[in-house]
Amino acid sequence: MTFLYLRAYFATIFMLFQIKSYLQFLWHSKNEHAVHSPFVFSLLTKCFYDKKSKPEYAALKKYRNSLLANINTIEVTDFGVGSKIFKSNTRIIAKIAKTAGISPKRAELLFRITHYFQPDSILEIGTSLGLATAALSVGSKSVGRKAKIITLEGCPNTMALAKSQFQVFHFDNVNPIVSEFNSYLDDLRLSTLDFKLIYFDGNHSKKATLDYFELLLPTITNETVWIFDDIHWSSEMEEVWKIIKKHPKVTVTIDTFQWGLVFFRREQPKEHFVIRI
Ligand SMILES: C[S@@+](CC[C@H](N)C(=O)[O-])C[C@H]1O[C@@H](n2cnc3c(N)ncnc32)[C@H](O)[C@@H]1O
Repeated sequence: MTFLYLRAYFATIFMLFQIKSYLQFLWHSKNEHAVHSPFVFSLLTKCFYDKKSKPEYAALKKYRNSLLANINTIEVTDFGVGSKIFKSNTRIIAKIAKTAGISPKRAELLFRITHYFQPDSILEIGTSLGLATAALSVGSKSVGRKAKIITLEGCPNTMALAKSQFQVFHFDNVNPIVSEFNSYLDDLRLSTLDFKLIYFDGNHSKKATLDYFELLLPTITNETVWIFDDIHWSSEMEEVWKIIKKHPKVTVTIDTFQWGLVFFRREQPKEHFVIRI
């Protein structure tokens, strides 16, 4: 009984925190009319607010539907932070797809961002069942030059399923790697890889996110785009977002509530945008 009360108590605190954060976001947020930076204005008008339907969206929908129709279960390796939904490690595939993956609207936006920036190399930190990977893969193929995509997942069973999906859907530019994030990124320090787009969607703890940020800083170029998921998910993640914005290498940031986009363009004055999508 006490346990149930505690769970309800923490769920209420979590919900109130999110409502407060969202109201603050709405208060500060703007649209393209308040943006004077040509770089950000173009991104908003040609990408964020592009409401036209795209033929590629059908592939994303098909990928999602195939997972939502899958009522088999898998044993997942739980990495602790992030699961406010599941209590057991035996999980129904359809439910993972519904709760842990990117939403349909965000997947379309991720597709457009990939299409817009045309990065030639992409890193995704947190594959799960590959819903966002699908958007990255289809988005990069849509410009005719398939980016190399590395996607990282610590749970072998989850990745095995994602991998088989990538094969079925011919996402042949995706290199799925089963690894704990830190150990992969530590090794990366020794290599010469660089990623033009990184989607951070794994461990949403302050320490881990800042560690990944620091470990990946040596890979940045003037064109690099980093997307952090869930920047208002907890007070810790809001602190992370403040620290990232202040970093001397960071110039432009865009807070869209769910995502924080980070740019390192040297020609841009430091400026932080809060944008309603
Ligand atoms: C939110 S899900 C990713 C969702 C995915 N990007 C999508 O939109 O479909 C985060 C994933 O990261 C994995 N993960 C979390 N912490 C990890 C860690 N420290 N090392 C490796 N994998 C981790 C979890 O197993 C989970 O599948």
